[in-house]
Amino acid sequence: MTKKRVAILISGRGSNMAALIEAAKAPDYPAEIALVISNVPGAAGLTRARETGIATEVVDHKAFGKDREAFDRALHGALERHAIDIVCLAGFMRLLTPAFVAKWSGRMINIHPSLLPAFKGLDTHARAIAEGVKQHGATVHFVVPELDSGPIIAQESVPVLPGDTPETLAARVLAVEHRIYPLALRRVAEGLA
Ligand code: GRF
Repeated sequence: MTKKRVAILISGRGSNMAALIEAAKAPDYPAEIALVISNVPGAAGLTRARETGIATEVVDHKAFGKDREAFDRALHGALERHAIDIVCLAGFMRLLTPAFVAKWSGRMINIHPSLLPAFKGLDTHARAIAEGVKQHGATVHFVVPELDSGPIIAQESVPVLPGDTPETLAARVLAVEHRIYPLALRRVAEGLA
């Protein structure tokens, strides 16, 4: 089996990244985590990745000002240098240009903390509680130019319980994220998604 080479793009703590790294240790897992890229130099997830010996790169968006194309070209350059096959966005807080998304069409996936198409964007847990929905959850989907859209690969719900705060609900959803992201990446790497 030739394992697909995966890059994980992060901006923060990287708990989904860690879940993917852990899953990819299994000998029969069809993907290896070859690279972690962060747009935030101090992201906690970078330290975590370095500790596991995975190659890391920082592409600091601040260095590119408002030039999103140039930032995305730098990202693309790093991905090419590391011969990456599949890109996983995991708490990566930058909008990507349509040109970049097109280059990675069908090979770039994202995890979002809601049952898409409900609650695209930020603050999903607080919004779910405010709306009074009874089910919330997480979704892994292919990335398309439109934010938090694109074909769904995996999705799982959790109940919203009486007394939930955004934090308690987020923790319940995060446990689901850590389970479904490795499953979704497996399906994509095996060409099943
Ligand atoms: C996760 O909830 C993910 O779904 C969202 O941002 C959060 C990132 O958490 N896109 P982590 O960095 O993976 O811990």
